[in-house]
Amino acid sequence: MPSSKITNTKTKSTVTLPESPSEGDRQSLKAVKAGSGDQHINLIDWEEKARAVLPTMAYDYYASGATDEITLKRNRQVYSEILLRPKMLCDVSYRDLSVKLLGQTIAMPILVAPTAFQGLAHKDAELATARAARSVNTIMTVSTLANSSLEEVAAEAPQHLWFQLYVYKDREITKELVGRAAAAGYKALVVTVDSPILGKRERDLRNGFHLPAHLSAKNLSGQGLDEIGSSEKNSGLAAYIASLYDTALTWEMLDWIMSIARLPVLVKGILRGEDAKEAMSRGAAGVIVSNHGGRQIDTTVSTIEVLPEIVAAMEGRGEILIDGGIRRGTDVLKALALGAKAVLVGRPILWALATGGEAGVKECLTILRQELDLTMALSGCATLAEITPDLLKLPLHMK
Ligand code: FNR
Ligand code: LAC
Repeated sequence: MPSSKITNTKTKSTVTLPESPSEGDRQSLKAVKAGSGDQHINLIDWEEKARAVLPTMAYDYYASGATDEITLKRNRQVYSEILLRPKMLCDVSYRDLSVKLLGQTIAMPILVAPTAFQGLAHKDAELATARAARSVNTIMTVSTLANSSLEEVAAEAPQHLWFQLYVYKDREITKELVGRAAAAGYKALVVTVDSPILGKRERDLRNGFHLPAHLSAKNLSGQGLDEIGSSEKNSGLAAYIASLYDTALTWEMLDWIMSIARLPVLVKGILRGEDAKEAMSRGAAGVIVSNHGGRQIDTTVSTIEVLPEIVAAMEGRGEILIDGGIRRGTDVLKALALGAKAVLVGRPILWALATGGEAGVKECLTILRQELDLTMALSGCATLAEITPDLLKLPLHMK
């Protein structure tokens, strides 16, 4: 068969491809073009590398936000408006990044946020992410909509997992998920409250988002609810959620979860101080300040700008975590200085998984940890407790 040669100018490697490449070859070709074998320097550049290897439908699903994607951008932008006031001459020769969350000590205040359908990124899907989280001693939050069953993931990293719960209209299904998570050894339940309906993600509408035939929402296979099929002029996921999730949820749902859960419950998707208070008064172990990475309702406040309001409302009770737009060590330090105990990272994990599987995710978490460590050293902090609000100069809209 005639063949053509492609040279990657960065690595000088040559790949020989047949004239009519198969889908697999096309993916490798894209990977060579993207230079995905190159060393990764930061989390931001990774997205372009992943984009080059992912099918458009998968990339768009991962990357997109709701409607005009204003919140998606704002999550990043506000971090750049918060300035640092580093302290000098503080003896930073030894630095400790470890943190205790819900009674468990982990190596760093950086966790993996729940993201659905990791099988779109890599054949090992959630199993690879779990192994990576374990290897750097942090926690992975496993989505209800994982492509691997929660038991399969637990077999990879039993001590390092939280389970993210979506509440199905059928309470028996929900109850079963809660019971399975506890039985499999998950350490906490993360109940996501910002998604009674899926946000309007226009890229998914254009692409008619659905899962390829070999992937399913495996946790629901016992109920026959594992298929995310195509839906004409719609997102198959939006249709799935519209038909199965409970739009009638109120705070009583949390009481019910509390009554059946044997695990601490964190409420994810909080953007107002009153809601944080309500969650705590219902017995939550803490909250995750989140706007779902800008994927649900657009033009909301960014998470970092509401963090102070939520910290004040919590009055020192329970854990406070935050996600949305965290890409740099300086972002982590800013979130901690404003009162978060730890942060979660969503999309960068998917970019790393797409280009490098388990090793990629490990490298991604390691780079972010190193950046936080460096930021601490250069701002005069040897421990997380020394990361205090006086290290920041806030923009006017946050005063
Ligand atoms: C998500 N997120 C999410 N959240 C959740 O509670 N359950 C889920 O199944 C998913 N699925 C999901 C898929 C994809 C592709 C993305 C990008 C996000 C939201 C996620 O947990 C987190 O809140 C954001 O991703 C954080 O923002 P960054 O780090 O992606 O900017
Ligand atoms: C998402 C859902 C599944 O953001 O949480 O796509």
